[in-house]
Amino acid sequence: MTDGKSIDQLSEAEAQAELARLAAAIAEANRAYHTLDAPEISDADYDALKRRNAEIEARFPQLKRSDSPSEQVGAAAADGFGQVRHEVRMLSLSNAFADEEVAEFDGRVRSFLGTDAPIAYVAEPKIDGLSLSLRYEGGVLVQAATRGDGELGENVTENALTIADIPRRVAGAPAVMEVRGEVYMSHADFAALNARQAAGGGKVFANPRNAAAGSLRQLDATITAARPLRFFAYAWGALSEPLAASQFAAIARLKALGFQTNPLTVLCDGPAALLAQYRRIEAMRATLGYDIDGVVYKVDDLSLQARLGFRATTPRWAIAHKFPAELAWTRLEAIDIQVGRTGALSPVARLAPVTVGGVVVSNATLHNEDYIAGRDSRGEAIRDGKDIRVGDWVQVYRAGDVIPKVADVDMARRPEGAVPYVFPHRCPECGSDAVREEGDSVRRCTGGLICPAQAVERLVHFVSRAAFDIEGLGRKQVEMFFADDLLPVKEPADIFTLAARDAANPLQKLRNRDGFGEKSVTNLWAAIEERRRIPLARLIFALGMRHVGEVAAQDLARHYQTWEALAAAVDLARPAALAHRAADEAEMEERAAAQAEGRRARVKEARDRAVEALAVPEAAAAAWQELITGDGIGPVLALSLSDTLANPEERASIARLVAHLEVLPPEARATESPVAGLTVVFTGSLEKMTRAEAKARAEALGAKVAGSVSAKTDLLVAGPGAGSKAKDAERLGVKMIDEDEWLALIGDA
Ligand code: IVH
Repeated sequence: MTDGKSIDQLSEAEAQAELARLAAAIAEANRAYHTLDAPEISDADYDALKRRNAEIEARFPQLKRSDSPSEQVGAAAADGFGQVRHEVRMLSLSNAFADEEVAEFDGRVRSFLGTDAPIAYVAEPKIDGLSLSLRYEGGVLVQAATRGDGELGENVTENALTIADIPRRVAGAPAVMEVRGEVYMSHADFAALNARQAAGGGKVFANPRNAAAGSLRQLDATITAARPLRFFAYAWGALSEPLAASQFAAIARLKALGFQTNPLTVLCDGPAALLAQYRRIEAMRATLGYDIDGVVYKVDDLSLQARLGFRATTPRWAIAHKFPAELAWTRLEAIDIQVGRTGALSPVARLAPVTVGGVVVSNATLHNEDYIAGRDSRGEAIRDGKDIRVGDWVQVYRAGDVIPKVADVDMARRPEGAVPYVFPHRCPECGSDAVREEGDSVRRCTGGLICPAQAVERLVHFVSRAAFDIEGLGRKQVEMFFADDLLPVKEPADIFTLAARDAANPLQKLRNRDGFGEKSVTNLWAAIEERRRIPLARLIFALGMRHVGEVAAQDLARHYQTWEALAAAVDLARPAALAHRAADEAEMEERAAAQAEGRRARVKEARDRAVEALAVPEAAAAAWQELITGDGIGPVLALSLSDTLANPEERASIARLVAHLEVLPPEARATESPVAGLTVVFTGSLEKMTRAEAKARAEALGAKVAGSVSAKTDLLVAGPGAGSKAKDAERLGVKMIDEDEWLALIGDA
C-alpha cells in the first residue's frame, strides 16, 4: 500500500479510498501494538504508513477523516505521563447559547443568593485551547498538569517550562499558588507550523486547538519547545492566601505577577452589559488572531462565588455563552438506525464528507423520528415542517465537541422521486417490536436483554471510563467476547469469570488465539481483578439504567451507602412508585378527557384518586419520598430505577454480578467538618440564606440533606413557621436548632 502511486498522481477518489485503507491499517497496527502488545509490522513500516497518510491529507485536506490516524498520536503517547491529583478539582462550565439564557443565569444566581440586588460579573473570551494548572511554591513553578478528568491530570511540567508565556518564577505571590488558564496557538503560528509539518512529512493538524493539545502532550519536551504555544491565565486552584476580593482584581493581580491575561476581560453590571460585551467580542472574533468559542461570565465578588459553590462538575457562579456553531451543506446519503443501551433507536445521517469548522464530518445525529418528519416533541412544526429525506441537501453543524447535528434541509435541491423516510417499527438488530411510549420522543426496542445491540451497548457502558473502567476491555473486545463461542461475555457478571473459564479450558487458551498474547491476557486478567473492589457509585452508574447518570449515582451511593440498602429501599418504595405512575397516567387521561369535553382539567383530583385506589402503605410512601429527595433524583429517575430492580431477569443479572464484587461505600467527604455524615433536614423559612444555598453548603460539608424527618434524621434546622416537621422531630426525639445555631455549628456565623 505504501509503495502505491505517487501522491501527486492520485485522483481525489483514489486518495479518499487510500485514506480509508490507511486508517484501517494503522488502527489495526495500533491495536496490535498498544492493546495486544503484539506488534504485527515493523516500526519503519508503521512510520511509512503514517507518513503517507499525512502526505495525502496535506494534499487533500478536505478528505481528512474524522477518525484520521494523524489525530490519534497524543492519546497513545499520554500513557507515558505521570499522573497528578489536583488539590482543587478542575471543573468545566455549563453552556448557554441563547440570549435569554444569560438572564436566566443571572436569575438563578440571585435566587440562590436570595437577593434582588444587581450582581456584578466579569466577562472574558472563552479561549479554545486546553486548560492547564500551574503550581508555584515559594514563587517557583514546581508542577504543571492538564485537566484530565478533573481530578487526575497528566504531569506536563517539563513541557510547560518551554512555554514563553509561563513564568518559571514569580515574585510576590502567595507561598502556594495554582494558576489556571488556557494553552492555545495563534492562527499565524498554527499556519506556519502546519506548513513546516507538511513540508517535513509530519503530522498536519486539523485546527489550532488540536495542534496545541498535540504539542503540549508530547513525551519529548524538546518537541513542545519547538511549537509556538501561548498561555492566558484566567482562574486558580489551591492558594495559601486569596489573590484578591474579586474576580476582576484577581485577574489584575495575575497580570501584575507576570501572567498573560486576556485584554478583553471587563466588568459588567448585569445581564444587559454582559450581552453587549458578548456582541463586541463576537464582532472582533475573526480578527483576534486566535480561536475563541464564546464568552465566559463569572460572578465578580469572590465571597459570592464561595457561597454559590459548585454543582457536580460546574460552578454555579459562571457560565459559558457559546457562539453559534459553524455550518456546512452536504448531501444526505443514507439514514442508519443505531440501537443504544436503553433500546433507543437513534437515526444517524450518513453524509457526503464535508468540512465543518476544520473537521471532516461524515456522520451526524438526526435525533428521533419526529425530528426527521419536521416536528418537535409536542407535535409542532420545526424547520417550517420540512421533513428530511435520503438524497436531500442538508445543513450540518457542530456545537463544541459534541456529535454533529443536521439543522436544515434545502427544498430547492430535493431530488425528484425522494420519498419520506419511514422510521422502522421493528428493532433492526433483534426484530422485536420498537414502540414509543406516550410522551416519549424516542422509539425503543422492546427486546430488553434478548436484543444483542442493547446487550453489547450495556457492556460497553459497563466497562467505560466513568463506570468499571477496565483497561484492555473496550468496545472492540466487548464485541469480540460477546460473539465468542469459547469465552462468551453476555452480561457484566461474565467478565469476572473470564479468567477462571479460560484457565479451565486446557486446550484453547485465550493467549494463543489470534489477536491476543501472553502479556495482553495477563494484563487483562489483572485489570479485571482490580475492579472486583468497586465504589458503590460506579456500580450504580455502570448498570446503565435509563436516566441514572453519574451525578445521580453518586447521590444514591452517598445516601444509601451500600447496594443492599439501596435495593431494599427501592423494593420498599415499589408500591409508591407504581402509584406515582398510575397518577401520571390518570393525569394524562384527565387532561385528554377535559380537552374533549371542553372543560378545565381537574388534575389534582385525578391524581389523588389514582393514588388512593392503590392504598400505598405508609412505609412505601416514606421510602419513595426519601428516594426522590436526593439532588437531581426526580420521580422519572426513581421510577426507572424501580422498574429495573423490579424486573426479575434484571435483578438476577445484577445479583450474579454483585456476587463477584466487594462494593465499597463512598468516601466520607469533608470528614473534619462537624456535620460530616449527619442527616440534616431544613424546615421553616431561613433568613440568612436560601434553602438551595443551605442544602448545597451542608452537602459540601459532608452532611446528607433529607426532605422529611425520620428516625434516621440527626438534626432539624428550623426557621420561623416550622410546622409538621418540627412536630415529627419532637416526637422522634430529633435534635432541633435554629438558623443561627446552624451557622455557628458549621463556622459560618
Ligand atoms: S473558567 C471553574 N474561563 O473552557 C471554571 N474557562 O468549557 C473554570 N476556558 O475547562 C473555567 N476560556 O478549559 C474559564 N476565560 C475562561 C476560559 C475557560 C476557556 C475553558 C477551560 C474550561 C472550559 C470549560
